[in-house]
Amino acid sequence: VRLLVTGSNGQVSMALKTRGQEAGFEVAAIGRPALDLEKPQSVLAAISTAIMGFRPHVVVNAAAFTAVDDAEGSPETAFAVNAESAGHVARAADAAGVPIIQLSTDYVFAGTKASHHAETDPTNPLSVYGRTKLAGEIAVARACARHLILRTAWVHSPYGRNFVKTMLALAGKQPEIRVVGDQWGNPTSAFDIADGIFAAARALRNGGEPAWGVYHFAASGDASWAQFASEIFRQSAALGGPSAKVLEIAGSEYASRAARPANSRLDSGRFAVVFGHRAPDWRVSLAVVLRELLKT
Ligand SMILES: NC(=O)c1ccc[n+]([C@@H]2O[C@H](COP(=O)([O-])OP(=O)(O)OC[C@H]3O[C@@H](n4cnc5c(N)ncnc54)[C@H](OP(=O)(O)O)[C@@H]3O)[C@@H](O)[C@H]2O)c1
Repeated sequence: VRLLVTGSNGQVSMALKTRGQEAGFEVAAIGRPALDLEKPQSVLAAISTAIMGFRPHVVVNAAAFTAVDDAEGSPETAFAVNAESAGHVARAADAAGVPIIQLSTDYVFAGTKASHHAETDPTNPLSVYGRTKLAGEIAVARACARHLILRTAWVHSPYGRNFVKTMLALAGKQPEIRVVGDQWGNPTSAFDIADGIFAAARALRNGGEPAWGVYHFAASGDASWAQFASEIFRQSAALGGPSAKVLEIAGSEYASRAARPANSRLDSGRFAVVFGHRAPDWRVSLAVVLRELLKT
């Protein structure tokens, strides 16, 4: 099965490439400079050319403007990348008769709900990032009827920039780290997202016509950022890696440009029923990422 993924060095793109062969997939990535999502008018041609050359069974749009705080200062660029260009990627897939898997985010929710979010829950993003990703969902759905939108959360991996790598780097420099304890979510490994994409792509490849639309796909189990950090340090210390004491603070005490939902936990039950696959507990998957990051 051939997958064309957008973005060269992104966490999900790297995980798809790393895990592809073992899972029976041929994965080709298209990224900068061939694909520049800041120039939406160039995207249709770039993706169409890549589709003609590689003949993928599924297109995965994993590239995005993911710097949540930076997006507050660059709303036009974030919109071009996350919304307009996502629509063009989907248009190219549709024109070639190929289904698209669009990655999206838990930050489409305001986070005021007390329990896990279902796909049918109302969205109300608090940030530019969340608004542009939601606009991307709508653009993709309009451009390509055969679309799966996978909302995931709190992505970490051995690649790129993420919370696990930030915590390990800080622990190397300071004994105590202040971490937000009143925002809840599902820390999800990019490897698990890759496995989820493979499960969905297999269903599509076998001529499946699943219920198209939005699915939540994140790790099993929940955590606050402070709990996530504590578990990183517990596991890291056991592996001989850096650790630090976690001082729990409130989100309101942590200065950041973008507002974040207090509860963005996702219910991934619909994906499990339709595609027969569920991500492991986040602590189990964290161990896989840490072993990779700490190996010498
Ligand atoms: N990270 C999270 O915590 C998180 C949470 C929920 C949902 N998501 C969603 O999951 C998906 C994958 O996220 P991720 O963590 O893998 O992202 P990431 O590691 O930040 O990677 C982003 C990718 O987008 C590419 N990209 C950014 N701007 C581009 C541009 N102008 N032109 C072409 N490519 C561009 C990057 O290119 P280069 O390879 O050239 O750097 C990179 O490959 C995204 O849709 C994201 O919104 C992420």
